[in-house]
Amino acid sequence: MLKFRRKILQASAGLLLAGPLFSQRHALAQTPACDDSPTPRQIEGPYYTPQTPRRSNLIDGLPGQRLLLEGRVLSADCKPVANAIVDLWSCDSEGVYDNTGFKLRGHQVTDAQGKFRFETLVPGAYGNSSFRRTPHLHVKVQAPAAPLLTTQLYFPDEPLNQRDSFFNPALLVKLQQSGQQAKLASFDFVVPVQAKG
Ligand SMILES: [Fe+2]
Repeated sequence: MLKFRRKILQASAGLLLAGPLFSQRHALAQTPACDDSPTPRQIEGPYYTPQTPRRSNLIDGLPGQRLLLEGRVLSADCKPVANAIVDLWSCDSEGVYDNTGFKLRGHQVTDAQGKFRFETLVPGAYGNSSFRRTPHLHVKVQAPAAPLLTTQLYFPDEPLNQRDSFFNPALLVKLQQSGQQAKLASFDFVVPVQAKG
């Protein structure tokens, strides 16, 4: 009997511990995969270089805080878009763009689940006292049969966001983890096409 009661107590304690986690999972399950708003467009800026290499690691040995950015390209009805080109470019940790080569530049092609994944560096802020850009990533997404989407992504933990006139909270990445060495972030692009199937 004592053994049985101990087992019941252990089971109850387990449920108590699992409670918050279960609630979180339940809450996550209620969150839709995406809403039907296409990702907002933003200006290309002056530093785009075409014909980037197809690769996932853009770092090329540069120093700085690493950034792992992953996500999906989704149609307006939240279905994965395969074979979309996601072209990413940014400045380095000091706010400097490589305008002669392809450092911190590259593109990926989404897989059958619409997924892409980049390893790059967290970009620095740049500008001067009258015009300052908060840290951001530039992106072009070319999904099959969709207009080209040119936009920028931002980080939620940047104090300069509110002082940058380009900043749009709809373009914030979701930070999964943030440490001194690395950030892990995600973003899903929604493009105005209807996926097949
Ligand atoms: Fe920029």
